[in-house]
Amino acid sequence: MIFWRVKPLDQILETAAKKSLKRQLGALQLTMLGIGAIIGTGIFVLTAVAANKAGPGMMFSFVIAAIVCALTALVYAEIAAMVPVSGSAYTYSYAILGEFVAWLVGWALILEYAVAAGAVAVGWSGYINGVLREMGMGLPLALTAGPKDTITLADGTVASGGFNLLAFLISLLVTWLLVIGTSKSAQVNAVLVAIKVLALTVFVILALPAVKGVHFEPLLPNGWGTPLSSVGVLGAAASIFFAYVGFDAVSTAAEETRNPNRNVPIGLIGSLAVCTVFYLLVAYAATGAVGAQPGGALAQSKEPLAFVLREIGYGQVGNWVAAAAVIALPSVILMMIYGQTRILFVMSRDGLMPEVFSRVHEKYSTPHVVTIITGVAVSLFAAMFPVGALADISNSGTLFAFFVVAIGVMVLRKSQPDRYRPFRTPMVWLVGPLAVIGCTILFFSLGWETIRLFLIWGAIGIAVYLMYGMKRSALANGKG
Ligand code: ALA
Repeated sequence: MIFWRVKPLDQILETAAKKSLKRQLGALQLTMLGIGAIIGTGIFVLTAVAANKAGPGMMFSFVIAAIVCALTALVYAEIAAMVPVSGSAYTYSYAILGEFVAWLVGWALILEYAVAAGAVAVGWSGYINGVLREMGMGLPLALTAGPKDTITLADGTVASGGFNLLAFLISLLVTWLLVIGTSKSAQVNAVLVAIKVLALTVFVILALPAVKGVHFEPLLPNGWGTPLSSVGVLGAAASIFFAYVGFDAVSTAAEETRNPNRNVPIGLIGSLAVCTVFYLLVAYAATGAVGAQPGGALAQSKEPLAFVLREIGYGQVGNWVAAAAVIALPSVILMMIYGQTRILFVMSRDGLMPEVFSRVHEKYSTPHVVTIITGVAVSLFAAMFPVGALADISNSGTLFAFFVVAIGVMVLRKSQPDRYRPFRTPMVWLVGPLAVIGCTILFFSLGWETIRLFLIWGAIGIAVYLMYGMKRSALANGKG
């Protein structure tokens, strides 16, 4: 059946072997790369969104999201070590579950990466606007949030924003950097990771002593949450899942890694583990220091970590933490747009997306067309929407992709049991199904509004495939 044609794994590995990217990244650099992609708007900004949904119980949300990601990272590591090529979940699905599922995954990954880039840009704008305001150079409020977002006016009333100017501009700037060939530089990344880790460490050291038991009461003002309601601990877990996304970026560097079979799993799981420890400490300290009731001051802040420090008397340090976010978050936007362009690039090479997407710039050697299209789309999302909505939409795509990868790994264990597996998911028949269940629960906890958008997006994707990719597929035309 045409729908299920697969691109054989050996063929994919052969294509990858022909290209000779220099294998220069080791386990430490990969872990740093992962941390660089993971720590971003999630912890710096969505902590407020989580507080609004779950109250102090958001600490449990951080734990639940971490567990789902850890389960996924364990299965991801098996396939990423086995198929160390670009395209991540899309490529794996093509090899295991066939073109149609791969197309759906690739289509969902557009939500994961492009929409996530927009979310990070909006998160970044919250901090830069705060810094500018502190310096007496704040923009007019209408230019600090999009029309679908809200702003709090001087008299305390809440109104709609106008156009999130700085989120729009930073996305365009990052796009331009990508077009002229700026990419993940391991050195720059290491510096930015150090800045982020330092900022979070200082935050925890200052906020922990201010923790008061009374700030945890009531602990679960919105309860645990029910699927589709998008509130409560589960609703917040579904949103805060965004904070952990990015560990899969490690797999996109597999082709440039020395001994990928060992180092990719270390990078995936190591970066996730480090971030989890920081997140739990930050969530606990922020909640305990100022309280985290839904609708409260923390829940409404667009720069929650700086807000907490200001509230407990460390205003100047709060500004430094904000400055750290301002310096470091653009690299997360860069990674997300980069990831998006590379996936579209591979899909275009496979004939499922227009050929022009894989066109490479003569002078800069970058896929400039697809980068510009992606960048303009990201800038517009960032200018219009609130960070929470973008993060939730992005999560829907990511959870779908992770869900398919987890199933794919189990299918491959059955269909090709003898294939060499440099890393084997421990207890795959337990971990795999739990990852599938975890992704499903979080997906449904995103709430009906987000799921509806995901379904509409999926329906458009299916139509595009039937009208375009199915006929043009390189594999179908004997060119795969
Ligand atoms: N995990 C990344 C962030 O929180 C996407 O910004």
